[in-house]
Amino acid sequence: MSASFSTTSLKGSGVDIIEVYLTFVISLSCVFENNHFGFACKVYQTIKERVDFDLYYMNDGFDSSIPQPKNAWSLGSYNEIAIFFLPVSAHLVKLCNVSSDDRVLDVACGTGNTAITASRKGAKVTGIDITPQMLTQAKAEATLAEADGIKWVEGDAEDLPFEDGSFDVVLSSFGHMFAPQPKAAIREMLRVTEPGGRIAFATWPPEHANGRMFEAMAKHISPTPPTPPSTLSSFSSHNNRPPPSPMQWGNPEVVKKRLGSDVINIHFERGVIKKPVLSPNHYWETSSTKGGALIQAIQTIKDPQKIESLRNDILQAIIPYLCENILRLDYLITVATKA
Ligand SMILES: C[S@@+](CC[C@H](N)C(=O)[O-])C[C@H]1O[C@@H](n2cnc3c(N)ncnc32)[C@H](O)[C@@H]1O
Repeated sequence: MSASFSTTSLKGSGVDIIEVYLTFVISLSCVFENNHFGFACKVYQTIKERVDFDLYYMNDGFDSSIPQPKNAWSLGSYNEIAIFFLPVSAHLVKLCNVSSDDRVLDVACGTGNTAITASRKGAKVTGIDITPQMLTQAKAEATLAEADGIKWVEGDAEDLPFEDGSFDVVLSSFGHMFAPQPKAAIREMLRVTEPGGRIAFATWPPEHANGRMFEAMAKHISPTPPTPPSTLSSFSSHNNRPPPSPMQWGNPEVVKKRLGSDVINIHFERGVIKKPVLSPNHYWETSSTKGGALIQAIQTIKDPQKIESLRNDILQAIIPYLCENILRLDYLITVATKA
């Protein structure tokens, strides 16, 4: 039995189609007093497999009701978490020798940690972020820091609204790594960097606390892709690949490959954020009420038992890094010169 439906006609109505069809077959079975129930079930299963599969890939592997990243970052109060990342912004700015001669872009600037740090060195700074609420907060932080000259732009790291070579230094602190298409993000960051200019970013390595926590979260929110039904022989393995994890940006080998021959003098440096945390439960309390990504995951999961399981996995991920009231958050910095 092959089921060939167009995905468009099934969108939002696939289950209705199956139910109508199943009712029809069962009714016929009854009319002819012949037990075709087993056959009907097999038909149901075959169609359901295909509908699940089509709906999954129509939504890029995500339930369409799950808010997109743009919404996720506006949940909670990121600035209360970002305060712990301030030394990383200083580390980036220092490694790039940012000075008053530089035009600097902070990609996925969030509440402005790195942009404001560069501006305090006298640089001419632009901060760009996809989430308007982040920019509102960034403007308030800049006003408080008396860093008034920063230009704040709402936009996507994968499609930067700037001319080629507009900046001497392009930075990102835990930002560009969350753009879903890594190749597009890095292509854009390199495009807007002047030849001879510096590009530098901070990322979370997959093997340390934040990488492990992210992995635990991904396990609970990414639905397992359905198996391609046997009737769909043309499905290619390329489509079956999930989007790459943002944490791959924390792997120097992956970073080298992504930067390719567009850069010279790649330099990696590691650092540690020491975040005071009283207990694993305190960590959960803060992250689940202030961290957009975790709040989004909890809202998506809904089921209290599954949320408890997510909580357990996240705590197991961070406990090895919590010692003497300090949570150790290792990060990786990449610095390179545009060829
Ligand atoms: C972890 S926060 C980092 C913010 C800031 N750079 C810092 O150091 O605190 C990630 C930021 O990336 C932004 N973001 C995610 N995807 C983006 C994209 N495709 N383009 C621009 N910004 C993006 C989010 O809105 C959020 O502000």
